[in-house]
Amino acid sequence: ESGSFLSQYWPLFWEGTKTTILVSVIGVFFGVILGVLLALMRLSDQAVLSTLATAYIEFVRGTPLLIQVMFIYFGLGMLVNIQAIAAGIIAISLNSGAYVAEIIRSGLSSIPVGQSEASRSLGLSYIKTMRHIVFPQALKNIWPALGNEFVTIIKESSIISTIGVAELTYQTGIVQTQSYKGILPLFISMILYFILTFTLTKVLNHLENKMSY
Ligand code: ARG
Repeated sequence: ESGSFLSQYWPLFWEGTKTTILVSVIGVFFGVILGVLLALMRLSDQAVLSTLATAYIEFVRGTPLLIQVMFIYFGLGMLVNIQAIAAGIIAISLNSGAYVAEIIRSGLSSIPVGQSEASRSLGLSYIKTMRHIVFPQALKNIWPALGNEFVTIIKESSIISTIGVAELTYQTGIVQTQSYKGILPLFISMILYFILTFTLTKVLNHLENKMSY
């Protein structure tokens, strides 16, 4: 019986899974770009830039993603004709950027200041010190944390089901409605999310081990 259930509703779950992956990959991609920019702004000695970056990071991290998603969708929707999936990706990118900026900042500040002092006193420039001494070491902390951010976004992207983006959580609701089954669709949905996050975690751990020597 559950065999026929799966064969009947699998296309909906599969469409949802693909959309969840798409939205998460694009969201994290732009999140990382924005996060690098915000981290650079925050670390810059231009007070205006670092204040702006800090304010953005604190505000985004201090408000719910659910509200941000609706705010972007309906707010942008008043100005331009925007598809739900585009609004969802924009909101996720804007949200993730703030978290990525923090990941980069804490990764860089985890490197003892003696490292850059030693490098500078050996005559390396600030840029060279960052590029050859601080950043390669910081990457060992940043990389796994970025992997966690990706996993977080796969799960948290379920929030954009509220604006009608047909990702996995949204499709799960459709299956519940069509099948008159409450729990089985939720269970399948969880298994699918878990396959995504568990596989990603394993792949990232593997890459991490290859990097660390
Ligand atoms: N549910 C949390 C919120 O609404 C998660 C935010 C997203 N987290 C992240 N690492 N990008 O604020």
